[in-house]
Amino acid sequence: MSVQPIIAAICCCLISMWVTLPVCAQDVEGGKQGRLFPPERIEELDEPREWQKAEQIMEFLDIEEGYVVADIGTGTGYFALYFADRVGESGLVYAEDIQPEMVEYTREKINDLGLTNVKVVLGKPDDPGLPENSLDLVMMANVYHEVDDPVALLKSIARSLKEDGRLIIIDWRIGRGDDIGPPLPDRVPRDAVEADAEETGYYTVRHHPFLYNHYFLIFKKKPT
Ligand SMILES: C[S@@+](CC[C@H](N)C(=O)[O-])C[C@H]1O[C@@H](n2cnc3c(N)ncnc32)[C@H](O)[C@@H]1O
Repeated sequence: MSVQPIIAAICCCLISMWVTLPVCAQDVEGGKQGRLFPPERIEELDEPREWQKAEQIMEFLDIEEGYVVADIGTGTGYFALYFADRVGESGLVYAEDIQPEMVEYTREKINDLGLTNVKVVLGKPDDPGLPENSLDLVMMANVYHEVDDPVALLKSIARSLKEDGRLIIIDWRIGRGDDIGPPLPDRVPRDAVEADAEETGYYTVRHHPFLYNHYFLIFKKKPT
């Protein structure tokens, strides 16, 4: 049997590990974390996304002027800008991320746009560091599959949500958008998200099924 195909396969494997490892494990405050969206590809997050249906998402969320909203894992502030428009001058948007490159990029963008109702925040993987009992709405869009310890993060978020506040989780369905979304092994099924939420004191208010690639879940805190 020829050993050439085996050597070629080993070489391919080593090269692909070399290419993927540096972008999959990032140093963030609180430890090294896998699966994070690589800052080298930051501009992809600003590309138009017809499939995201952001305007339609905003319609369903029915955001009022004066709301205080947190966009957890804001990336380049894609959703934070929609929120800023909706909450108006009397509201506030926290645009939070754990990767300093994302935070710097978003801060510059917000400054350039002259938005005074967006505060850009560098958080920790299991604690965004937002004020207690202050948020009307928290959004995690395209983030959950990157979170190392979702239960710890959901507990921190619960402390910052007002009693009647809503937590929105939008993430990639399994078996859809394979060419544009994260790799299949990274994806978190909807029922696993709901189980984490249940464990950390939330209940599901509803699921909006209109996004083809994503589940769109709304949670509230169980009454204490
Ligand atoms: C794929 S990007 C999505 C960004 C943005 N939400 C969007 O839809 O364009 C995921 C972002 O989540 C951030 N992230 C991952 N884990 C996080 C955590 N535990 N807390 C806050 N942000 C996190 C990453 O740094 C990255 O910027």
